[in-house]
Amino acid sequence: MSKIKRIGILTGGGDCPGLNAVIRAVVRTAALQYGIEVYGILDGYYGLINNKIKKLEINDVAGILPRGGTILGTSNRDNPFKYAEPNSNGKKEYKDVSHRVIETIENNRLDVLITVGGDGTNAIANRLFETHNIPVIGVPKTIDNDLNGTDVTFGFDTALTVATSSVDKIHSTAESHHRIMVIEVMGRYAGWIALGAGMGGGGDVILIPEIPFRLEKIKEKIDERTKRGKRFSLIVAAEGAKPEGGEMVYARKVDDPNDPIRLGGISQYVGNRIEDMTGIETRYTILGHVQRGGSPTAFDRILATRFGYHAVEAACEKKFGYLVGLRGQDIKLTPIEEAVAVPRRVAPDCDLIKTAMAVGTNFGF
Ligand code: F6P
Repeated sequence: MSKIKRIGILTGGGDCPGLNAVIRAVVRTAALQYGIEVYGILDGYYGLINNKIKKLEINDVAGILPRGGTILGTSNRDNPFKYAEPNSNGKKEYKDVSHRVIETIENNRLDVLITVGGDGTNAIANRLFETHNIPVIGVPKTIDNDLNGTDVTFGFDTALTVATSSVDKIHSTAESHHRIMVIEVMGRYAGWIALGAGMGGGGDVILIPEIPFRLEKIKEKIDERTKRGKRFSLIVAAEGAKPEGGEMVYARKVDDPNDPIRLGGISQYVGNRIEDMTGIETRYTILGHVQRGGSPTAFDRILATRFGYHAVEAACEKKFGYLVGLRGQDIKLTPIEEAVAVPRRVAPDCDLIKTAMAVGTNFGF
């Protein structure tokens, strides 16, 4: 069996803290343990389609462990199977350009491609593996924590830490002004960040996409607090939370068949209605991309480093089509196909929810 000589690595989808730690671990493990060369593909699948690639030496990854973002750049809109290019009339057309991915891999003599990304990036990787036999190994990243094949994705802990400390900050101003504060966190269609920050920050109400809410139930919770002499309340809402029988609130729809919905605005929706229903002054805050930026927590740095090391090990063992993931205390491999088949969402009867409810947290039902 021929040995792996060259590894390609790309970071795809929304960035998150810890991407640089993975890149560093891959480059250092490959060079120090196996003498393998690593090539960084720029801007996710865009670079793979357009042959934007550069060699990464150990010195190129020096000092990047604590840095947020990704030194390779990323993109969450360039899908080789549905790639936007202008046609002869200058109009945007979506085409299958996956043959160009094969060209880049062959021209650069890459023996394996490590795809560091969420469900979108790894679903594309799996399709490249299944339809074009491209040797891929997936690494699970996302602040949303919504990927199967791992107990937790890297990036989540940092986002949760930022969101929880923001709830703490809003807590003191809510209390001073006797207001209701609605804090909107990211997470797309999963409620992991809201659940974690709501529990960690002591939110009175937590709204998540997995449990549709009723405004009357939120009001009941606030009334109960008012009776107890509590003149302020904190509501932590996932951006994907929705009212029972209603739809998710989105900021806008864009011309992108890969992901046309830009979520945002549920905190305003809930805040305005709750203010009208309770008569208590209400404000809302959308935390947005601060949850995704900046330096990773120690947990994320360590997890990302473990993922990078194990991805190189899997490459050397030619375990193509697999995703590295944390299972308990160990790193295990899962077929990417299995990991991306369905999103990992919060089970409404899970222990976290039971615990939060036992200590009096309301979920809008
Ligand atoms: O998937 C990560 C994430 O930050 C989601 O939580 C959020 O809905 C989305 O990406 C925002 O994407 P963008 O950076 O394109 O606005």
